[in-house]
Amino acid sequence: MASSMFLAQRRWFHSLPRNLSNARFFSALPSQHPVSVSGPQNNVGPKSNKFEKASSAPSSLKEPELAKFSAIADTWWDSEGPFKPLHKMNPTRLAFLRSTLCRHFRKDPLSARPFEGLRFIDVGCGGGILSEPLTRMGATVTGIDAIEKNIKIARLHANLDPTTSTIEYCCTTAEKLVEEQRKFDAVIALEVIEHVADAAEFCKSLSALTAHEGATVVSTINRSMRSYATAIVAAEYLLQWLPKGTHQWSSFLTPEELTMILKRAGVDVKEMAGFVYNPLTGRWSLSDDISVNFIAYGTKEK
Ligand SMILES: C[S@@+](CC[C@H](N)C(=O)[O-])C[C@H]1O[C@@H](n2cnc3c(N)ncnc32)[C@H](O)[C@@H]1O
Repeated sequence: MASSMFLAQRRWFHSLPRNLSNARFFSALPSQHPVSVSGPQNNVGPKSNKFEKASSAPSSLKEPELAKFSAIADTWWDSEGPFKPLHKMNPTRLAFLRSTLCRHFRKDPLSARPFEGLRFIDVGCGGGILSEPLTRMGATVTGIDAIEKNIKIARLHANLDPTTSTIEYCCTTAEKLVEEQRKFDAVIALEVIEHVADAAEFCKSLSALTAHEGATVVSTINRSMRSYATAIVAAEYLLQWLPKGTHQWSSFLTPEELTMILKRAGVDVKEMAGFVYNPLTGRWSLSDDISVNFIAYGTKEK
């Protein structure tokens, strides 16, 4: 079953129209560099709501989604709590970011601080579990989240270490920063797009925040039969890794859909990888299997 889904995904990927299928699989690339993470780590139509401040831009906010995250905001840095899967996935996500972004910005992936001199934004940063290691890797990081409580927790945690205390945390949205004409070398939104009001509008904001010749990275969950079985039934109901109702299967995007809406927003997807979980080791790794969790790296087209 798993292998036939995988083959179906690959067949699908290679049957994409030419302009959508120029992305490579991560494993087809020269090298995957190990990541060192240090420190205490251990869909359609905007709605107005109470989390929103006045703005002329279409809002990415989806109130029921934000309420779910607000309820568990205190647990961001509990590596055994509801965000355990993100903590566990972090080294693998960082390996992908290190490899793709070092190649993109012509930086040495073996350097301790390869992202020195680059401005990154972590959109939907939560408690900062990705912003902090990116800062330790040398990036000048801005972390934004729609929930004030997340930002407070992120700031408190970052202030525990002088290196991460430099992170600019702000309770805002991507669309508001677009209005302020902010630009970043890399725009990263991991596990956020499945929680926003309008995925296509959100991608337009991510693209607008990406500087000329910059990079955009998005991760999410595929809307596949396997993701229903694993990311919802197993993760929320059987294993209870996540609170029940964390994910709406209908809000997931297929890799093809994500590629297309990014393309329409001006971002050309160059590379994709899947994240697969090994229940025997309890570890995640990068894979060509994009049938459940996947990540896409793209470049801003001229
Ligand atoms: C699953 S968490 C992912 C956190 C972080 N990106 C990571 O992967 O570690 C989703 C986060 O996105 C935030 N979020 C949801 N909708 C948002 C929006 N429209 N703008 C900014 N943040 C949003 C939530 O508050 C939550 O912190």
